[in-house]
Amino acid sequence: MTEKEIKIKFHEYTSLDELDKEDRELADAAIDAMKGSYAPYSHFNVGAALRLSNGVIVQGANQENAAFPSGLCAERTAMFAAGAKYPDKDMQSLALAGGIYGRLTEEPATPCGACRQVMAQYQAKAGKPMSVIMIGARRVWKFEKVDDILPLIFDSI
Ligand code: THU
Repeated sequence: MTEKEIKIKFHEYTSLDELDKEDRELADAAIDAMKGSYAPYSHFNVGAALRLSNGVIVQGANQENAAFPSGLCAERTAMFAAGAKYPDKDMQSLALAGGIYGRLTEEPATPCGACRQVMAQYQAKAGKPMSVIMIGARRVWKFEKVDDILPLIFDSI
């Protein structure tokens, strides 16, 4: 038996101002996308913004439904919209932000497991890393690739 270790590297920023221009633009778009959230049950508003290889930014927000499993997270709303509208473009980077009643959480919003799996698949489809930016009022995290937030990714492709 050998004990193995998986190390994950990521960048922590203490303010959005520390991000480079493109990431800052994407982060602002994710915060702006929170306005499109429809969350009458959880009141937790999530916004996501996805940068594509053609430079287009696609926004998404969580959509809830009385039949609970029918709702969808902000990240998947953005990725599925982008996948449907720009099927030939790679998804380069995804930013997300969330908060109760639209007020940004102090700590970075982290994506659920199902959204990470969907990110993994679009990253595999592109054959290039998709970075993930998680926004909070107190700090911001950037992961360079989906593998860093979903170690031992399932990939049947
Ligand atoms: N939610 C997202 O939009 N993204 C995530 O990664 C986690 C959760 C949404 C789903 C639901 O509308 C609300 O947040 C509370 O769980």
